[in-house]
Amino acid sequence: MADTPIEKITIPSLRARKTVGPKVVCLTAYDYPTAKLLDEAGVDLILVGDSLGMVVLGYENTVPVTMDEMIHHTGAVTRAVRRALVVGDMPYFSFHLSADETIRNASRFLKEGGAAAVKIEGASRKRLKLVEAMVEAEIPVMGHVGLTPQSIHHLGRYKVKGKLAEEARRIVEDAANLEKAGAFAVVLESMPVEVAAEVTRAVKIPTIGIGAGPACDGQVLVFHDMMGFSNGYMPKFVRKYADLHGIMSGAVRAYAADVRKGRFPDDATSYHLKPEAAAELAPKKGRCAPGRGTR
Ligand code: KIV
Repeated sequence: MADTPIEKITIPSLRARKTVGPKVVCLTAYDYPTAKLLDEAGVDLILVGDSLGMVVLGYENTVPVTMDEMIHHTGAVTRAVRRALVVGDMPYFSFHLSADETIRNASRFLKEGGAAAVKIEGASRKRLKLVEAMVEAEIPVMGHVGLTPQSIHHLGRYKVKGKLAEEARRIVEDAANLEKAGAFAVVLESMPVEVAAEVTRAVKIPTIGIGAGPACDGQVLVFHDMMGFSNGYMPKFVRKYADLHGIMSGAVRAYAADVRKGRFPDDATSYHLKPEAAAELAPKKGRCAPGRGTR
């Protein structure tokens, strides 16, 4: 029997979610097995975030992440995905010099990485021109406003944005300008519920929240955070759906104990000779083992 055809999530079908629902379910992924699991579980949008740098590569923040690292991991994700829309995150300094370089870097996500779109942080006037240029070059773009982690050195620390009226108004304007520039969706990171609700009302493109409350058109979390991969600090907006740290650490300790005590490998996890080969190789009475001299 033929497999039921998979209805792939496309940019138009994702945009339509704003009006027809259901909410867009988004998670990050950086490797083949995780992306396959998310896709099979029905996640709509998989973001190969530059959070890669912090949760997988061990960097202190997202600033050191390179284009080559992003393309390498985007390829691993897209090779696993059948249904979800895959978006590649443009790392710091991949879109800061010129429109030409920005388009060249963004196009690598599509041509080499196999992604359907890119995400870019910020909405300054210069950045909006870059969004226009990428859209003009047939590269779908997702915006990202509120807390933009690539600005860590400028900000000093990761903090909630838009708590005061002026900053809140700027976030709403930024999202509206990204929509005008051609973005197909926008991530709203770390902002009061009321601000995210106002942005979601003000724009016709889906808003994807992270630390932005329940009014957004969709939700994203970093996979490793929601799975409890680490037992370190977590921002308030993370809900842990599993304790992978506990589960995996327990499994590794059990393995180590089994190896040290000689309980693994055992007979069930070992290979055996075929009986005739065992008989042939068995030491014969009165004959020496090969390679040993007689005494
Ligand atoms: O890099 C990332 O994972 C992100 C999400 C937090 C939106 O940008």
